[in-house]
Amino acid sequence: MSKFFALITQQPTVSLLTIAVPVLLLLISQVDAQQSRRVRERSWSSTVSMVQRRHQPGELIFAEEFHTLDPNIWEHEITMAGKTNGEFQMYDDDPINSYVRNGILYIKPTTTATKFGEKFLEDGTVDFGTRCTDATGVGCQMRAKRGSGGDIISPIVSARMNTRSVFGFRYGHMEIRAKLPVGDWIWPAIWLMPQANRYGMWPQSGEIDIMESRGNRVLVTPAGEDIGCNQFGSTLHFGINRTTDMWRLAHFKRNDPAGFHSKFHNYGLIWTPDQFIFTLDDEIMGTITPPPGGFWEMGNFTGPKLWDNNKMSPFNQPFYIILNVAVGGDSGYFPENTKPPKPWKNGSPTAREDFWSSRSEWLPTWDAENSALQLDYIRIWAL
Ligand SMILES: *[C@@H]1O[C@H](CO)[C@@H](O)[C@H](O)[C@H]1NC(C)=O
Ligand SMILES: *[C@@H]1O[C@H](CO)[C@@H](O)[C@H](O)[C@H]1NC(C)=O
Repeated sequence: MSKFFALITQQPTVSLLTIAVPVLLLLISQVDAQQSRRVRERSWSSTVSMVQRRHQPGELIFAEEFHTLDPNIWEHEITMAGKTNGEFQMYDDDPINSYVRNGILYIKPTTTATKFGEKFLEDGTVDFGTRCTDATGVGCQMRAKRGSGGDIISPIVSARMNTRSVFGFRYGHMEIRAKLPVGDWIWPAIWLMPQANRYGMWPQSGEIDIMESRGNRVLVTPAGEDIGCNQFGSTLHFGINRTTDMWRLAHFKRNDPAGFHSKFHNYGLIWTPDQFIFTLDDEIMGTITPPPGGFWEMGNFTGPKLWDNNKMSPFNQPFYIILNVAVGGDSGYFPENTKPPKPWKNGSPTAREDFWSSRSEWLPTWDAENSALQLDYIRIWAL
């Protein structure tokens, strides 16, 4: 841990880190209740969370060491997905796609054909029924080739899980030790979303992406940039509507020729009442400090102000954790005209089928558990 961090956080004790999360959270609440009288004169942390409204600076408020995949912490999303980025996976809670082994959480995409057969993609129907977690209902059913020019069933099954109903926090120092998946068109993400969309629907209430990457061993843009597994990005999304998302003002990338799939790294976020700092292995990757007029001023937004006068707004509310592995999609995260080119066009009505038809090219690049997002721990300290 660098000197920089030592200034604003305290190292948790080793014994705390080795305790399972539920026990730890219970312990924290008990210790906190005892200490609250003793330290009342001390200044409180700016951090708030669902565990406790107030914390002491440096307090460990969330520690997921992945001894098990605890359903009391992680809620699986069960949906056809793809409704916003047109990705090619469905999300389910099948232990083939998400499991813990030896203290590591694996989120691994597999093909739908392995589970249901190839014919199913052409003529099957998926209906998640009451298991469906998509409140809009859009992702609960899918029928193959529905309507003329319809597409096949999502050809990939993967997993996405979140802490929405049990844990969220505002301001803090978060660290995730993870190894990223390798394999063409795999899109893993570790991110935060607002628990209550206080300022409206996406991107009005913000989104914090700590890590996103593309699993391709080689993927070069027309400008010559390698955007495959040698790179990952960290991004804030904010805007007054979909077309004004100003993420380009708050986006950082890192390249490492060894690839982020080759070993575990620490992906970090320091989120204070004044700024965001994204880190990799305790080194600062990028800092976003909004001007006095906040993200509203930074984005040059006009019209009725959506956000309150806090300069961190819309990022002044609790956010929860999401972990997922997507595949493909037609929203542009995988751009056109790359080398090698992607086997579907963004916006194609048959993008899933175009992708699946070219599986002889991409499926051999998927490499068992190396194509899983692997998480060793997630730790969050109060500021
Ligand atoms: C989004 O906001 C901008 C700026 O106010 C506006 O010009 C544009 O029409 C809006 N787009 C949509 C889809 O509402
Ligand atoms: C915001 O407006 C200022 C002044 O007109 C300009 O210099 C700046 O580039 C604009 N920023 C964005 C993100 O459009």
